[in-house]
Amino acid sequence: MAETERPTAETVTMDKIVSLSRRRGFVFPSSEIYGGLGSTYDYGHYGVLLKNNIRARWLEAMVQERDDIVALDSAVILHPRVWEASGHIEGFTDPLVDCRTCKLRFRADKLDEEHCGRKPSKHPGETPDCDLTEPRQFNLMFETTVGPVQEAGSRAFLRPETAQGIFINFKNVLQLARRRPPFGIAQIGKSFRNEITPGNFLFRVREFEQMEMEYFVPPSEAEEWYRYWIDERMRWYLRYGIRESRLRVREHDPGERSHYSRGTSDIEYLYPIGWSELEGVANRGDYDLTRHTQFSTTKLEYVGPDGERYVPYVIEPAVSIERIFVALLVDAYDEEVVGERERTVLRLHPEMAPVTAAVLPLIAKSEDMVTKARGLYEDLRRQHRVEYDDNGAIGRRYRRQDEIGTPFAFTIDEQTLEDDTVTVRDRDSLAQERLPVAGVRVWLDDALERPWTTPKPG
Ligand code: GAP
Repeated sequence: MAETERPTAETVTMDKIVSLSRRRGFVFPSSEIYGGLGSTYDYGHYGVLLKNNIRARWLEAMVQERDDIVALDSAVILHPRVWEASGHIEGFTDPLVDCRTCKLRFRADKLDEEHCGRKPSKHPGETPDCDLTEPRQFNLMFETTVGPVQEAGSRAFLRPETAQGIFINFKNVLQLARRRPPFGIAQIGKSFRNEITPGNFLFRVREFEQMEMEYFVPPSEAEEWYRYWIDERMRWYLRYGIRESRLRVREHDPGERSHYSRGTSDIEYLYPIGWSELEGVANRGDYDLTRHTQFSTTKLEYVGPDGERYVPYVIEPAVSIERIFVALLVDAYDEEVVGERERTVLRLHPEMAPVTAAVLPLIAKSEDMVTKARGLYEDLRRQHRVEYDDNGAIGRRYRRQDEIGTPFAFTIDEQTLEDDTVTVRDRDSLAQERLPVAGVRVWLDDALERPWTTPKPG
């Protein structure tokens, strides 16, 4: 096996992640042929596959592997009164300042993270030319109209969180899914926020996909379940190979919490922009069910078999696919020198990798090798995400698979034609071993069952 050197990438920058995502077709800037629409992105083939895996792993942990959580898919546009009840119309605002000189807009509470439009760029308000307005509150919800006529009563909003769709279905689930607290409702779907300053690639965007779970509990058990869900979600990130040294839990001060919260903790990841919120876990108390009871006049409470009644408290783990997507890429990105050659490799967990295995005939012009390779590919693709590639030199094909994070590559060569064996190449160690073609499927199933840890240093 070739001699390897440790990574040359001391730190993984956001520029490297953006460039790899673009180069390998994970993510494209949206509306590019029209000059782009700032901080809006489209996902290419491998980006879609990675997002699908994030969704699938979350649903497995939240729904498939548990008896106490059911799934829901609610509408994006809800009755406008929902957002009055939730407090979003009144309070879902950020303080905004305009600069009369450079005409840019900034979040007044984040001036130390923003950059003034003048060169050399400083923080807004730091150069003598800066002329900032007084802060005013800016509502982050996107407005739209429902129906063909724009008139009073047609005003509606794109949801800024999926959670409210869950609360307004509490009664349906309680009755039809025959649940009693503690139980949860999980939902994945797009949310929209007119962020004043989106940026840092997918980290803060205006359209993102949330994965939220509202867990309804007896009020006396809320604190215990709040701690449980923080631990449970941390375990999920570790299970999928994120380095422990890059994760931490930060509890909000009471003054920092949202209007509904009785306790919030952020699971933070050490992104290239510093420690930042990956996922939030909140104890929302009985705020939402009580408010929707008041505004809709439908009683949202639990009534037990012995007549006991109470409004459950809600524990909510909430995250976006985008924040996980960036954390996974940053954590996986590695560069190393192997022998004389440099390679970039995404050391993704095999269950997260867009492609699980590549099937490669060594010589694309060899009809026998191609036939063998295609046979293996057809066999594996019924159960796994596999890719067939006979385009270009084998070294280049390996490098391509390394960059999209494919953990295993099966190569069909001269020897395959003699003894029906293939080589399997391990993305991380570069170790190669020979297997009978007939045993590849079982070998791959076993490989995916084995625990995986990243070889990247902490
Ligand atoms: N229902 C609670 C809620 O929405 P939040 O902290 O505002 O709480 C939850 O959002 C999660 O959604 C965040 O932890 C983050 O993962 C993600 N998120 C929020 N705003 C985002 C944005 N503009 N772009 C990408 N992800 C975002």
